Amino acid sequence: MSPLAPVAGAVTVRAPAKINLHLGVGAPRADGFHPLTTVYHALGLCDDVTATPAERWGVTMAVPDWIGTDALPADGDNLVDRAAALLAAHHGVPVHGLVSVAKAIPVAGGMAGGSADAAAALVALDRVWDLGTTDEDLLAIAAQLGSDVPFALVGGTAVGTGRGEVVEPVADHGTWWWVVVPSTEGLSTPAVYRHFDEMFPDAAPEPCGAEALLAALATRDPHRLADVLHNDLQLPAIDLRPDLGELIDRGQGVGALRGLVSGSGPTCVFLCESADHARSVAASLEQDHPLVLVANGPVAGAHLVEYA
Ligand code: C5P
Repeated sequence: MSPLAPVAGAVTVRAPAKINLHLGVGAPRADGFHPLTTVYHALGLCDDVTATPAERWGVTMAVPDWIGTDALPADGDNLVDRAAALLAAHHGVPVHGLVSVAKAIPVAGGMAGGSADAAAALVALDRVWDLGTTDEDLLAIAAQLGSDVPFALVGGTAVGTGRGEVVEPVADHGTWWWVVVPSTEGLSTPAVYRHFDEMFPDAAPEPCGAEALLAALATRDPHRLADVLHNDLQLPAIDLRPDLGELIDRGQGVGALRGLVSGSGPTCVFLCESADHARSVAASLEQDHPLVLVANGPVAGAHLVEYA
């Protein structure tokens, strides 16, 4: 997770998008967060974060046209700034350097793109600032940044508990093929959780477990996995955005094994049998949707791809 040797030049770290193969949500805790039992899955849609040594501090985002910039947070309020501030405070060093984020993960879509950037920034700045932060400390800092950030460090397929920040990797020897359909309009995560509370005022404190999902993963059979994909936020998300229900029906109608809202949405993902099958489902969905992606998982968490 954390690279070892210091470098003099730029460092690029790649971090993946996530989907939730299982998302069990319990009644809200005293702190307002919901207890989760989730199975995170890292998809091969990745952002690259490059940190370059410099005396001043600056963050730039390179966002391709197909993603759009509307949903990006204003300058100074993104998770990369917060990641840098926490890492620097942990070691008592000043925040400095130039960070550029090359985005390929759909923004504000329930795929934890901002969390991926934060995780990648932690790993890149740890290297550029020559801090040698332990994995344990990096995970603790990541957990302060957001519920999904520790998973972006770990990657692969992993069980998440607590509010999602306690991450335990699981063996996943399959290669699973997904069609990913982002939405042009965002959906607020807190709003979806609030709607879950409105729709399910009697939710049990304990979220439903992921045993069936983990058993299906071990079979490496996408049909078995399709049967047990589960998301407690799907009904609230669809109630807020009925078009997502229509999209899921359409994807399943053109042959996807199963469609699912990703996390709190609005991105929807469709499990397919193979790469070819995913491409054919994607081709059908492209007729009605401006952006349809094909990706496989699991892939690695935040990792160094280049340094000067
Ligand atoms: O942890 P993170 O900053 O990603 O959470 C964003 C929002 O999502 C929280 O402020 C909260 O409203 C909701 N949330 C929740 N329970 C969780 C995770 C997130 O209610 N386990």
